[in-house]
Amino acid sequence: MNADILRRFVRDIPDLPKPGILFRDITPLLADPEALKLAVDAMAAPFAGKEIDVVAAAEARGFIFAAPLALRLGAGFVPIRKPGKLPFDRNSFRYELEYGADELEVHVDGVSKGENVLLVDDLLATGGTMEACCRLLEQCEANIIGCSFLIHLVPLGGQDRLNPYTSHSVLRYD
Ligand code: PRP
Ligand code: ADE
Repeated sequence: MNADILRRFVRDIPDLPKPGILFRDITPLLADPEALKLAVDAMAAPFAGKEIDVVAAAEARGFIFAAPLALRLGAGFVPIRKPGKLPFDRNSFRYELEYGADELEVHVDGVSKGENVLLVDDLLATGGTMEACCRLLEQCEANIIGCSFLIHLVPLGGQDRLNPYTSHSVLRYD
């Protein structure tokens, strides 16, 4: 099964970036052409035929998968970035972290009202990043079709923050 194959390409790094965190390193998967293709195919498959206009993703790891998914689904790619990175007029969404706050931005003409958008990221953990992407695109009055992840760290509860949107992940870690 493809998920079992892909799982072998995810490297576990204990205690990164701080003690107690098990970092799921996808760089071995990215470096292998067949694994990378399997991953992109599996992330796109549930959304094939859904008339996606735009695939959007937050930097940096989200970008890696979003562009090939956009090509696969016949959609465009729209970047969601940290403040100060996008050159044109922007919508922004500020959100709270465990300590402090962060902000994400998208160009005002990146996504138009009513456009069908698929949101993509490599990994769903607490859901803070993807929830912020959803709120940002709601400001644009996008029609969010769903969210696609390579990896879902299930015990961290991120899925609950993405309601009512459909989310799909290729590899679940319980
Ligand atoms: C990682 C990952 C997701 C996010 C998931 O990005 O790529 O975007 O964390 O965590 P969450 O569900 O708790 O929000 P990170 O912020 O490490 O940035 P990077 O993509 O630039 O490495
Ligand atoms: N982003 C948030 N949590 C992560 C983890 N455990 N491994 C890799 N990326 C992450």
